[in-house]
Amino acid sequence: MRPKVTVVGGAGNVGATVGQYLVTKELADVVLIDILESVQHGKGLDLLEAGPILGSDSRIVGTKEFKDTADSDIVVITAGIPRKPGMSRDELLNTNAKIVGGVVEQVIAHSPNCILIVVSNPLDVMTQLALKRSGFPRERVIGMAGVLDSARLRAFIAQELRVSVENIHAFVLGGHGDTMVPLPRYSTVAGIPITELLAPDRVEALVKRTAGGGGEIVALLGTGSAYYAPAASVMEMVEAILKDKKKILPCCVCLEGEYGIRGLCVGVPVKLGISGVEQIIEIRLTPSEASALNRSAASVKELVDILKL
Ligand code: NAI
Ligand code: 2OP
Repeated sequence: MRPKVTVVGGAGNVGATVGQYLVTKELADVVLIDILESVQHGKGLDLLEAGPILGSDSRIVGTKEFKDTADSDIVVITAGIPRKPGMSRDELLNTNAKIVGGVVEQVIAHSPNCILIVVSNPLDVMTQLALKRSGFPRERVIGMAGVLDSARLRAFIAQELRVSVENIHAFVLGGHGDTMVPLPRYSTVAGIPITELLAPDRVEALVKRTAGGGGEIVALLGTGSAYYAPAASVMEMVEAILKDKKKILPCCVCLEGEYGIRGLCVGVPVKLGISGVEQIIEIRLTPSEASALNRSAASVKELVDILKL
């Protein structure tokens, strides 16, 4: 039997694209749930009809009913509103908190043993909200941001050095916002840190572009925010969990003393396997990297305090 993955907000840009990637890779049967009347049904049916061409037997359906999501192994939460040009992710706080809070209650009533992957923004706070509302252990509530931010940095490094993206590893830690912490020392091309391959001003330019990567896409699209790379990031996390790959990826999790942070969800490297977060990896940071991470955590905490989480 194939695993079952539900995508909440499944009619939306990120949600439907997650469905597309999961079906294309035949990773799971997929339920796209949304509050809309028929769009999720249409997108689900369209993707089902792509199956014979893709060679995928994944079943995918659209629905409005949470009972159809019952016993999901993973539930991806993309419900909420995206940014408009000029808006920060933080401006989505109150609207998305209401949506995500309500969704989590419905999800856990039907899939009490699932792993939650949170996507809605502002990401770190929505992950903290999902952790609190679900009552799940922290291993089963994971926010997606670091995979996306690192993928952006990897793409920019590959372009700059004209090498394969496959040769590049990169780490971006901290909150998913302007204060995110790209780590050039740990960003490598075939094992060589980019700090040895690029002049400091070029490293700085790539880091800056990464931190503004979401805004760059928002400005170009004119309406809505990025969805291809975000959905691919979710797919990588789902695959790591379902295939029990023990893959180390930067994800948003609740820290309990790691990196000197307690009771707050922020992005750090973790090992993903069948149980969700199986290990939090503590890498050594220089004093300036550690203070950048603390600054980033403090900006997440400000929003967490507004919601009184
Ligand atoms: P979208 O507007 O295309 O899709 C959102 C969907 O959620 C809509 O179809 C809407 O009907 C649905 N929805 C709203 N309330 C709902 C509810 N109570 N139950 C079920 N569905 C509901 O937006 P898009 O582009 O898909 O983005 C979704 C969210 O993900 C946004 O908050 C966005 O900022 C965030 N995002 C986060 C990223 C990250 O790196 N963590 C990357 C990209 C997007
Ligand atoms: C991004 O970084 C919208 O948070 C989203 O593209």
